[in-house]
Amino acid sequence: MSEPDLGDIVRNVHRRYPTGVSVVTVMASDGKPYGLAVNSFSSVSLDPPLILFAVNVSASSYPWMFAADHMAVNVLSTSQTAVVKRFSRSGGDKFADVDWTTGETGSPLIKGCTGRFELAVRYKIPAYTHTIIIGEVVNAEYTDDPPMIYLGGAFYDSGDLTPTEG
Ligand SMILES: Cc1cc2nc3c(=O)[nH]c(=O)nc-3n(C[C@H](O)[C@H](O)[C@H](O)COP(=O)(O)O)c2cc1C
Repeated sequence: MSEPDLGDIVRNVHRRYPTGVSVVTVMASDGKPYGLAVNSFSSVSLDPPLILFAVNVSASSYPWMFAADHMAVNVLSTSQTAVVKRFSRSGGDKFADVDWTTGETGSPLIKGCTGRFELAVRYKIPAYTHTIIIGEVVNAEYTDDPPMIYLGGAFYDSGDLTPTEG
């Protein structure tokens, strides 16, 4: 029997780790909105309020992300399956069929999200295929809509979870 491939094992461990789904958005210097779906979003610290996400340098929106001083993280709700599908497909005008507005920092804000952060970019850290972007939250909002969950390649409704025992 051949040795298990570390890459396969790594993927399978990731498939066992549930995350939310966000769309990172930016208003580019060409005057157009750009964005992509990410699940690498995480909190770094609360004081100061720092968050991070990793963007693949091969993403078509990467040059706009790398150049930006401000961005938004739109945390998707369970009703936004169409949004995650559109923003995980590369290129094109992803905002054409999406209801969105402009935030205080000029960043595009997608309507119907369960929460959102507007960020001032503080650090950009190269990591082989990705750049880790760390931003300081300068504005935040939320609703009571349940967030979307991503697990094992599928999307789930967090409004329908069973608490663990004990
Ligand atoms: C649930 C999910 C999570 C994703 N997370 C990331 C991520 O954290 N970073 C990233 O660069 N791409 C991530 N992607 C892939 C991008 O959304 C995808 O490559 C997208 O087409 C990039 O768009 P662009 O090429 O127009 O910039 C994710 C996709 C899905 C469906």
